[in-house]
Amino acid sequence: MTSKALTVPAVALGTWAWGDSGEAGDGYFGSRLSEPGLREVVEKAQPNGFTLWDTAVAYGMGRSETVLAQALSGRDRSEYQLSTKFTPQLAGDGPDPVADMLRQSLDRMGTDYVDLYWIHNPADVARWTPSLIPLLESGRIKHVGVSNHNLEEIALADRILGEAGFRVEAVQNHYSLLYRGSERAGILDHCRKNDVRFFAYMVLEQGALTGRYGPAHPLPEGSSRAAVYNGILPRLRALTDRMAAIGADRGASAADVATAWAIAKGATPIVGVTKAGYLDGLVRARGMELTEEEIAELEALGDAADVDTRGWWEREM
Ligand SMILES: NC(=O)c1ccc[n+]([C@@H]2O[C@H](COP(=O)([O-])OP(=O)(O)OC[C@H]3O[C@@H](n4cnc5c(N)ncnc54)[C@H](OP(=O)(O)O)[C@@H]3O)[C@@H](O)[C@H]2O)c1
Repeated sequence: MTSKALTVPAVALGTWAWGDSGEAGDGYFGSRLSEPGLREVVEKAQPNGFTLWDTAVAYGMGRSETVLAQALSGRDRSEYQLSTKFTPQLAGDGPDPVADMLRQSLDRMGTDYVDLYWIHNPADVARWTPSLIPLLESGRIKHVGVSNHNLEEIALADRILGEAGFRVEAVQNHYSLLYRGSERAGILDHCRKNDVRFFAYMVLEQGALTGRYGPAHPLPEGSSRAAVYNGILPRLRALTDRMAAIGADRGASAADVATAWAIAKGATPIVGVTKAGYLDGLVRARGMELTEEEIAELEALGDAADVDTRGWWEREM
């Protein structure tokens, strides 16, 4: 019953850090992002084919959605796709919290539909998933995805939507060279077999896997990501050095290699873009072919780092 198949670029762009911009930002990333700077990101991304923007109410409590809409303003709505989320923990107490949260997102983003709407986490799959059906029927959401769901939860959401002729078309989970739980749990295989798009978030581990940060140049002091990653940066060095070497052979960076790895695994990476210059890297990653040997070597180095980068909001898959 979904009208058009979900079509996505090779890389989606993530805007969690955009919630940091301005006074209402929660400072999760400790980034100083300006609205003109983010507009530049959009201006460079769009003509390069990076036209799918991932956000969520939870990113700066609406700030990311607002700033994203400002940066996209003036463009025809058909030129880009919006991906945002229902976060169960932020549900209001009205009769239809999912419709309410979506309406607030639509208001903030100045649009009347979302291309891809996610249930942010599996807090109560049986309770929240049915609320998506009328939103699909009315066209306010075009496609549905589930995030941080395990195989059983994906199947349950799919059954619920299936009763109304819809389906789970996408899964969005943490997936990087340091965190391959979804692969080990069979979720990537499941997605491949069932024509479900697998979106990998945090392929750069919030900057820690780019090789740009180290003990002498840590992630921004006082930010949440610094608390998670600064202590483990020395253990990532062998991996990021190897990614940099593989990238150097192709005129690319370690970050580009991390993104290319996720693409090679059949995923659509959602990369958190904070600077227009990073778009050049995504163009390179999109065109990069890694050999089987390189992929195996990078995965072995990722495993050998032996770090646990599971987010506080995540469970084992
Ligand atoms: N569904 C969920 O539960 C969930 C959870 C987490 C994330 N997500 C989504 O996934 C997106 C990506 O995750 P993320 O933003 O947390 O982390 P990420 O993509 O792993 O890392 C983003 C950070 O990497 C750095 N970076 C980005 N591109 C780079 C490049 N080409 N070269 C060097 N450094 C680069 C930037 O750091 P600097 O600004 O310091 O340069 C940026 O803040 C989010 O924005 C969000 O849309 C979803």
